[in-house]
Amino acid sequence: SGIITIDPGYKNTGSCESAITYLDGEEGILRYRGYSIEDLAEKADFLEVCYLLIFGELPNKEQLHKFHEDIKAQSIVAEDMKKILDGFPQSAHPMGVLSSLTSALVAFNASSVNVSSEEEMYKAIVKILAKFPVLVAWAHRKKEGLPLEYGDDSLGYVENIVKMMFKKPNKEYKKNPIVINALDKLLILHADHEQNCSTSTVRIVGSSHAGLFASLSAGISALWGPLHGGANQAVIEMLEGIKNDGGDTKKYMAKAKDKNDPFRLMGFGHRVYKNFDPRARIIKKAADEVLGDLGVEDPVLDIAKGLEKEALEDQYFVDRKLYPNVDFYSGIIYRALGIPTEMFTVMFALGRLPGWIAQWREMRLRKEPIGRPRQVYIGENLRPFLDIDKR
Ligand code: CMC
Repeated sequence: SGIITIDPGYKNTGSCESAITYLDGEEGILRYRGYSIEDLAEKADFLEVCYLLIFGELPNKEQLHKFHEDIKAQSIVAEDMKKILDGFPQSAHPMGVLSSLTSALVAFNASSVNVSSEEEMYKAIVKILAKFPVLVAWAHRKKEGLPLEYGDDSLGYVENIVKMMFKKPNKEYKKNPIVINALDKLLILHADHEQNCSTSTVRIVGSSHAGLFASLSAGISALWGPLHGGANQAVIEMLEGIKNDGGDTKKYMAKAKDKNDPFRLMGFGHRVYKNFDPRARIIKKAADEVLGDLGVEDPVLDIAKGLEKEALEDQYFVDRKLYPNVDFYSGIIYRALGIPTEMFTVMFALGRLPGWIAQWREMRLRKEPIGRPRQVYIGENLRPFLDIDKR
């Protein structure tokens, strides 16, 4: 009943009240639970940020220790899950593999489905924080043709992920602090971003009381698209395309501005940040450090630098307030770290996991009603049925 206003893309529709992430697109402010993203990226590690987002406060030492121990106790993924992984071709996109395996986890963890008390929620949350990195590492190793690897309880949360992803057979795992530090930052910067496409998906699927893992699997699918999380992969593919076409960035700038050409400059523009993306500022600095520290020389990255400069000075981009977003730089770092392009969005999903969990938990604890938008019908009026031989 009442008048329905349509708002395509929900550009001006609030779907919920939330106490998790504060974002001011005009001022370029991003805060998790009241803490600035700049402070968190510099001073916290990813596991602390997970705790903060999900439970609302920074953990003290004992709380963080217990949280990590609880996670480590759940880090084994059912052996039969490997058979599902085996069934995928090596060419499968790791986002598809990750979303399928996350869904499949439901079958092996039935007690995590119908959760409503805080205690049951905690158990499901700890389970997914433990098992998701294993699935990420499996998706990566499948792609690379490497044998599967389990974690090492003596390592930190992010360090363990790096080990599970990259450890080569018959080689000691050697910690690289530059890599761990860059990844920690990237994961923190991606950890939450209020009601974006994948988070809204997690909340709406969860609002039907489908379990946490099923809701997360839907979120992964939403994140996959090139207009959302898939942008980081699309950025590098675009840069490679420009390089292979002779490296003429001006030509591609012209294409991006041509309204008859569907080409968009990937990694530029944002639905809410209309002056700058605060995450992009932090990550640009980290990207410069990582490239310097690792001594990476890469023609694709030179093209990125060129495009960035041209776009920042171009009237079309200035008028529309299109700036490089976080994914313009995250792809560059992932590439420098030797992570294959198809894995970029999986790394985004790994970072976004605590945000999705926090938003799902908040939605359930607030007892929000099932998400069910309305529409304005514009189809045919009532028509008489026509028999098939009269059509
Ligand atoms: N290249 C060229 N023109 C663009 C671009 C771009 N990347 N982005 C927006 N525009 C133009 C657009 O054509 C429109 O022009 P006009 O007003 O003349 O019609 C104007 O800028 C406003 O764009 P919009 O599509 O109405 O903005 P939106 O809020 O619907 O879309 C966006 C935001 C991020 C989907 C879009 O900027 C885009 O497609 N960017 C490239 C993909 C990308 O980098 N996505 C990652 C976003 S950050 C990570 C995440 O949130 O997942």
